[in-house]
Amino acid sequence: MNKIFITIILFPLLLHAQVEEKQDSIVHEQKMQWFNDAKLGIFIHWGIYAVNGISESWSFYNSYITHEDYMKQLDGFTAKNYDPDYWAKLIKESGAKYSVITSKHHDGFALWDTKYGELNALNQSAAKKDVLTPFVEALRKNDLKVGIYFSHPDWSYKDYTDFTREIKRYKIADDPKRWNKFLNYYQGQLKELSKKYKPDLWWFDGDWEHNKEEWEIDKVRDFLSKDNPNTIFNSRMRGKGDYGTPEQGLPVLRPLDKYWELCMTINESWGYQSSDNHYKTSQQIIDIFVDCISKGGNLLLDIAPKADGTIPKEQEQVLKDLGRWTKKHGEAIYSAQAGIPYEYYYGPTALSKDSTMLYVFVRDIPKDGKVALRGIKNKINRIYVVGNGAMLEHDVFSKVYWSEYPGLLYIDLPKQAIDENYTVIAIMLDGKIDLYDKRHGAIENN
Ligand code: GLC
Repeated sequence: MNKIFITIILFPLLLHAQVEEKQDSIVHEQKMQWFNDAKLGIFIHWGIYAVNGISESWSFYNSYITHEDYMKQLDGFTAKNYDPDYWAKLIKESGAKYSVITSKHHDGFALWDTKYGELNALNQSAAKKDVLTPFVEALRKNDLKVGIYFSHPDWSYKDYTDFTREIKRYKIADDPKRWNKFLNYYQGQLKELSKKYKPDLWWFDGDWEHNKEEWEIDKVRDFLSKDNPNTIFNSRMRGKGDYGTPEQGLPVLRPLDKYWELCMTINESWGYQSSDNHYKTSQQIIDIFVDCISKGGNLLLDIAPKADGTIPKEQEQVLKDLGRWTKKHGEAIYSAQAGIPYEYYYGPTALSKDSTMLYVFVRDIPKDGKVALRGIKNKINRIYVVGNGAMLEHDVFSKVYWSEYPGLLYIDLPKQAIDENYTVIAIMLDGKIDLYDKRHGAIENN
């Protein structure tokens, strides 16, 4: 290649592309800021499936019940004790910063008074009203971010391809006109939701049924972003999202996505099922939450209101227990970032944004009252218990003058400072965390 071509044309072009990429990533980072800091969100699966207490949408798709019988649940969806302000207050109390609600699950039942189709809470359910708008308003009133769950597939819609696992209505290639009818309906609903609620976050689901081109994902993302430029998308958009969406399984290894959110049920079901008593305890939920924090992610914990709008007692209790813990430990939760590798502390940790504070999460009562860390090279300015204020003593062992090996750090944790779920120790460092990373320390002097 000719030198002049490289210096005059190619180099400035590459530079320009690099600058643009950098700007894009800064804009993206700004957009993701609130999400990154939020750490806890509450997911709500509310729909007609709560009436019989059967699995949301899947129960008819998998033919455990006929579609006709499934739809009979519309008559039992009364929402008669529905108190959206109470829902929002409870969510706020839990320490969550956002909530995501199922505006429409795969069964096609819309919670709002959509102009597209009849299958919605106002027209066809016993509630006879739009139940989504008051909740969105209550979230806003409580300064919580609004997330809208929306299922790409709509198995009840007559012009959608799939009806049940066995019954497919048609193939797109055989009837593109029919598919277009569906696209108008599906995108019409999305535009409606977007204009009406200006969601801070879109939580899509069910993208597996069609490819990116068939859903017209790029177009959808474009018009939704045009309405609300800062809106965030989960990843169920055929890879076109802003963050990773692991489901149920708490990541064992730290996910590679810069932003991620674990969505998880409170028992085993997304929607309300009276027979499902396999609840995780508040302790277990806090365990999982702490793990998400330490691995740099969010927890989106699902609750499942009954058809009359009441939140089951067990679920209410978990939110309150979470609230007690989050209120006390806010410093180590919101705005924290992923912690240090487990080799340095055998448990979860988090770092402040500027990496000068190390938060150490202690689940159990240490047998000898000491919490051990290793490989921290910084000078320690202060150690205290978050939300309790007690200053803690520490000691360093195995530090020899001839090696930069920083020794073993033992922090005294008195019993009276221990939290009933998770104690958090804050270690104030003299600067950004500096970890010892040599494989071994051979003798250099004596
Ligand atoms: C799955 C299921 C759905 C549930 C969702 C929540 O994709 O299809 O029933 O609502 O996960 O993450």
